[in-house]
Amino acid sequence: PRVGIIVVAAGSGTRLGAGAPKGFVGIDGHTILRHALARVFAASAAQVVVVAPSRREGDALSEALEAAQDRRDLVTVVAGGETRQASVAAGLAALWGDVEVVLIHDAARALTPPEVFERVRDAVDSGADGAIPVLPVVDTIKRVAGEDIVGVVDRSELAAAQTPQGFRRDVLDAAYLRATRDFTDDAALVADAGHRVVAVPGHPLAFKITTPADLDRARGLVAEAPL
Ligand code: CTP
Ligand code: MG
Repeated sequence: PRVGIIVVAAGSGTRLGAGAPKGFVGIDGHTILRHALARVFAASAAQVVVVAPSRREGDALSEALEAAQDRRDLVTVVAGGETRQASVAAGLAALWGDVEVVLIHDAARALTPPEVFERVRDAVDSGADGAIPVLPVVDTIKRVAGEDIVGVVDRSELAAAQTPQGFRRDVLDAAYLRATRDFTDDAALVADAGHRVVAVPGHPLAFKITTPADLDRARGLVAEAPL
């Protein structure tokens, strides 16, 4: 396939504190990873690289094969690293030769609708080096120094970044090769290498399951619309 989707699920889920790596925590009868992958496979056909915690590759493969249904041929599973960036690098190394556009997605954004994947891919197909989904910032943002409010930040200049983040494969490979420090997300790493990354509309359902409150919210949403 022309498109590869790297789904990073190798984190430990410390803030969720559910006693298992976050991807293997259940939302309903299905795990966070399984929900994320169902939506990945509902987007257009792509190689899907699942980056799993080491020693959990077998469990990740089972989840992926179930989600893939009749497209089991598209599934690859690799072990992740100590940081998210190392996990993405492991995923990149497993991409097939024909992949030209890469989408990197947090498994923890389990309810991200397929349309967001399409929007990101379309932006890269239209010529951007990279594209990321963003949402407007709703809160009023203050600059603070200790307890002092020292300034206002114009909210219209800000956006909250989500995933999947999409890039031309050659751009991403080169940017990862030259990266010598940790970046907050893939868009920052690619922008630091001098490439243009554009924003496309994100989606409220692309929120990241980070805390127990986020998991409760996901459970409520999935109860209304199960897989
Ligand atoms: N991730 C990864 N490899 C790592 C760290 C994170 O693949 N070494 C993935 C997570 O599995 C998750 C995504 O990156 O899908 C976003 O990370 P985060 O929400 O921080 O997940 P965790 O690192 O698992 O959670 P925590 O920081 O609370 O431990
Ligand atoms: Mg983390």
